[in-house]
This record gives sequence, structure tokens and C-alpha cells, in this order.
Amino acid sequence: MTTDNWTEIQQACAAALPANVVQFIASKRGLPHSNSHLIAILHMVQDAEGYLSQEQMNAVSQLAQIPLAKVTGVATFYHYFRLQPRGKHMINLCLGTACYVKGADKIGQRIMAELGIHFGETTKDGQFSLESTRCLGTCGLAPVVMIDDQVHGPVTPGEVSVILEQYVKKTKAP
Ligand code: FES
Repeated sequence: MTTDNWTEIQQACAAALPANVVQFIASKRGLPHSNSHLIAILHMVQDAEGYLSQEQMNAVSQLAQIPLAKVTGVATFYHYFRLQPRGKHMINLCLGTACYVKGADKIGQRIMAELGIHFGETTKDGQFSLESTRCLGTCGLAPVVMIDDQVHGPVTPGEVSVILEQYVKKTKAP
């Protein structure tokens, strides 16, 4: 932001956010700030954009008059907020009890090693995003990995690269 003019700042921030978010923030102006307002705002931004960019978090901070440290703190504290665009394929590793007992942590380590990312991150080529999730309701297949809408299980660490390769091929297929 290169201006000190509040009107221009507001306009620039409004342009960085979906219209419904700008309206929602305006409707809450003057009310005491609560975490629930901020969480609702961040959900609305993510629903519209798929993730929360630094520019959008700055704009929320300015328009809602909430310190950027608080906006960033909430966005990073809750695992359901994404700070990077989603990859073409969404990997959800189940860390529910049944899957954990059957070695889900080792599957997670193998996925992270294969892709060079951690939970909440997207590969540089935009192919994969990795998230953890709780019970997917398919405990009989534990440990379970869901990629896009397909459940894989039981998965062994040695199978991880083969499974991921299937999705890379799918993306490349004409
Ligand atoms: S604990 Fe993983 S599917 Fe139920």
C-alpha cells in the first residue's frame, strides 16, 4: 500500500476482497470485534478464492481494523484455512485413531518425502496439496488416504509413490 489516504486505502482493500466480504465487514463496523467475526470473514474469503493470500489478509486487517498479527494468527492457527492455492489434486491423509494405530504417520512421512511438502502446503508444480483429516468413515480400510474423491486403503508406505503417480498421469492425460 503506497498511500496514506484512508479513502484510497479502503478502495484498494475493497478491490482485493469479494464484494460480499466487504459488505459483511461494513455491517460489523462499530461492533466489538470478536474472533467469530474474523473467522466468518476469513471463511468467506476462502470460500470465494480457495485460499487466503497475504494481500487479502492485509485487506481484511485494514478494512475491519483488526491488527494484521491477529488476522494472520487466526489464519495460521486453524488448519482449515489455506494460505496457498490448492493443487490440482487434494490429498487428505486420515489421522483418525484407527488409521493412526495402523501407521498413518508413516504414510504421511512418505507422502511428504515424495512431494517435498508439509501438511497445508502445495507442491511447486501445483499438482498436489496435502491435508490431514479425521476419520473418513472407512476405518476397515485403515490406514486410509483420500485423494480428490477417491479413498485408498489400506495403504503401505511402499505404495505411496505408485498411487501418486496415477494422479500425475491423470493430469497429463489428454
Ligand atoms: S480413522 Fe481413518 S477412516 Fe476412520
